[in-house]
Amino acid sequence: MKGAQGWQLGSMADMQILPGSRHRPSLKRPIWIIFLVSLVSLFLVCAYIYPPHGNAACYVFSSGGCKALTNWLPPAPARELTDEEIISWVVFRDILNTPPVQSKNSKIAFMFLTPSSLPFEKLWDMFFRWCRYELSYDWTYGEIDKGHFHNTCQGHEGKFSVYVHASKEKPVHVSRYFLNREIRSGEVLWGKISMVDAERRLLAHALKDPENQHFVLLSESCVPLHNFDYVYNYLMHANVSFVDCFVDPGPHGNGRYSERMLPEVEKKNFRKGAQWFSMRRQHALIVMADSLYYSRFRDYCKPGLDGKNCIADEHYLPTFFHMIDPGGIANWSVTHVDWSERKWHPKSYRAQDVTDELLKNITSIDLSVHVTSNEKSEERVQACLWNGIKRPCYLFARKFYPETLDKLMMLLNF
Ligand SMILES: *[C@@H]1O[C@H](CO)[C@@H](O)[C@H](O)[C@H]1NC(C)=O
Ligand SMILES: *[C@@H]1O[C@H](CO)[C@@H](O)[C@H](O)[C@H]1NC(C)=O
Ligand SMILES: *[C@@H]1O[C@H](CO)[C@@H](O)[C@H](O)[C@H]1NC(C)=O
Repeated sequence: MKGAQGWQLGSMADMQILPGSRHRPSLKRPIWIIFLVSLVSLFLVCAYIYPPHGNAACYVFSSGGCKALTNWLPPAPARELTDEEIISWVVFRDILNTPPVQSKNSKIAFMFLTPSSLPFEKLWDMFFRWCRYELSYDWTYGEIDKGHFHNTCQGHEGKFSVYVHASKEKPVHVSRYFLNREIRSGEVLWGKISMVDAERRLLAHALKDPENQHFVLLSESCVPLHNFDYVYNYLMHANVSFVDCFVDPGPHGNGRYSERMLPEVEKKNFRKGAQWFSMRRQHALIVMADSLYYSRFRDYCKPGLDGKNCIADEHYLPTFFHMIDPGGIANWSVTHVDWSERKWHPKSYRAQDVTDELLKNITSIDLSVHVTSNEKSEERVQACLWNGIKRPCYLFARKFYPETLDKLMMLLNF
């Protein structure tokens, strides 16, 4: 740039000479040269400021073609990667380039992160078992028998597996699909890295089964919105992982970023997103392979550090995937939650809130909306594209109070 500026200043000074020169004949040659030099320098300045893009422009600007000119331009400043980064990136690249294992039985791992018993186990049981839950008239008692299950349940055995991380107390189970499915758990504190540790623990256990191809993280207050086949086909045939990810320039987004994460995590790559992911096997594997970025979030993204309230489970995976495989994630979560009240916690549904209309509303949403936490409260709206086709965004929803179970059982009727 310095050189170009020099030329420009020079040429402007030269031009000022032109009108003022009286001895025209004797100066004829120098003026001609000066004019030519000015023209060339102007040309070079233009070429520098507006680098050619099309082939025609290449031809005009350089006889050696585009390549020569591109080489002439200074390279974009690139940071030299640290040893740790190079080690991580080669491992990630090879995992991402490995084609999925072809197994006869591709399963979805449903991973439940809960303090203790799961209030919606009965609903999940119905989801996995796929029984018609019908309001049938019981002739013996002369009343409507709501709990009547047909004997002809078509189970989805072999197409799913269940993992439970119960951090506080041993759950009591009512469904056989959940019996003995607890993994060894650890303490989970809200906002702390122990939340991410629990997610990684669940992924590690679920990855032990080579038939698990897709991994869904769910909380105790999550419920399914569609029947098993719908969920199975939606996830198994999607070409991305559903990891929520967006830029929040406000205090609850970028305001939580710490420069102590440099050089590996730059502010421009810092992202936010809901914790409830669903991911393909390769993505679960790169999460296992990552210790570099994990350690930066463990050490520098925590509540109270430098007066910031960084929540690792809301930033680590969104930032990680944005850096490693941005095109491989959908940028929204398949678990619906209602933040429209704009309070500290999302809306929690009571029994009276659970209606056919509410469920229809949630299942028909096909736009994902992110609201930034700055004063402008900008809405970032994005169509939910599933393999390029606009589809409903959500397969699961939270947060529901345990009291909603019976109503959900009746209304969902998978
Ligand atoms: C998600 O966002 C990233 C930019 O952060 C973009 O590159 C990617 O294509 C998006 N994914 C989809 C499926 O649109
Ligand atoms: C469903 O959506 C409609 C239209 O947006 C809205 O008017 C209605 O209040 C919603 N109902 C519930 C129960 O959320
Ligand atoms: C997923 O499929 C859509 C539609 O074919 C395509 O546009 C998109 O690039 C694919 N994404 C990936 C990560 O393969």
